Amino acid sequence: MPRTEHPRVENADHPLPGAGSVSRTSARPQTPAGVEVLVPGTPGAPVVLITECDHDTFDAEIAVARQAGVELRLAQARTAEELVAAAAGAAGLVVQYAEISAAVLDALPGLQVVSRYGVGVDSVDVAAAAARGVTVCNVPDYGTEAVSDHAITLALTASRGVARLDRGVRAGRFDLQAVRPVGQVRGSVFGVVGVGRIGHATALKARGLGYEVLGFDVLAPDADGELHGVPVAPLDEVLRRADVVSLHTPLTVATHHLVGRRELALMKPTAVLVNTSRGGVVDTDALVAALGEGRLRAAGIDVHEEEPVPVGHPLTRLENVTLTPHLAWYTEESYTELKRRTVENAVEAIAGRVPRNVVTEETR
Ligand SMILES: NC(=O)c1ccc[n+]([C@@H]2O[C@H](COP(=O)([O-])OP(=O)(O)OC[C@H]3O[C@@H](n4cnc5c(N)ncnc54)[C@H](O)[C@@H]3O)[C@@H](O)[C@H]2O)c1
Repeated sequence: MPRTEHPRVENADHPLPGAGSVSRTSARPQTPAGVEVLVPGTPGAPVVLITECDHDTFDAEIAVARQAGVELRLAQARTAEELVAAAAGAAGLVVQYAEISAAVLDALPGLQVVSRYGVGVDSVDVAAAAARGVTVCNVPDYGTEAVSDHAITLALTASRGVARLDRGVRAGRFDLQAVRPVGQVRGSVFGVVGVGRIGHATALKARGLGYEVLGFDVLAPDADGELHGVPVAPLDEVLRRADVVSLHTPLTVATHHLVGRRELALMKPTAVLVNTSRGGVVDTDALVAALGEGRLRAAGIDVHEEEPVPVGHPLTRLENVTLTPHLAWYTEESYTELKRRTVENAVEAIAGRVPRNVVTEETR
């Protein structure tokens, strides 16, 4: 399964032989060695190269390329040198893990766009791209439905102790003692921290199930009003009142360990914490202590401070934790949408139109 939300950064600032010495040319070279042509283009058609990704099909990308009349190529380049050789003459690069440094950009003078599968563009030197007139694109919202589905799944699974009960049945325990007391949804409060795209979608789904929803967002930090139709309150009040706290902020300096020892102490001992945002938003040591000492009922955690989670990690020894491997973004629909829109962004830029999602230093 693809690991789109995990940029694997290799080849950092790899100095390239001859970088910067290549003259700009519009001539299209022969297909370089090791490059597979997925969609042949007519002579003179712009070339888009997909490189270093772990997708197992390219149907969505091929459909977009055919429609747009671009030549689509694939090369699993592992080093900056391999990437530059494979991308010679390409107008567009579609990347998942590849490090796109200033040196790589200098070695690809015909490049017009770098389009990344996913949200984060940490692996692309956005400032260097802007300085060279290369557009950088991402797909920031492909996982809104999938992540909110997963947050609700973890909330219900953790609240009802489903994973623990499943392990119990397999071990011959056929009763409910291990998970008592379980409360019902109606009448329970679902706290949403970060009422953005995913937080809002999660809030609507939680409300549909019968939860009372209460949000907190830095955009409305102290308000007693609403944000996007979700009632909001200060963070401490959300933590005190909620039976489920679901985290949906980005990881920033301000949100690093947003939920730590103090915040966990504010939560009800019967409450459940769900994290599908980023591992660093929660102080994992404080969470392990709270769960282990019965100060928090359960947790459902998709994102982790260390990924993959090391074998034997303290979280994995706790019965009241449900863990998933940073896959909240994944459904077949979101996966296809991600692949389609990544190539759409590239072909839009090459056609001289403004792609749907452009990343700049200001907007990232
Ligand atoms: N687990 C996964 O597979 C997966 C997939 C996609 C996204 N994500 C995570 O989900 C996060 C949210 O995605 P989104 O599309 O909803 O982003 P978004 O930008 O639409 O929403 C984020 C919200 O958080 C709020 N926020 C920022 N700082 C805050 C703070 N200090 N306190 C409270 N609120 C704060 C913002 O105001 C905004 O409303 C992403 O940043 C990413 O970390 C995870």
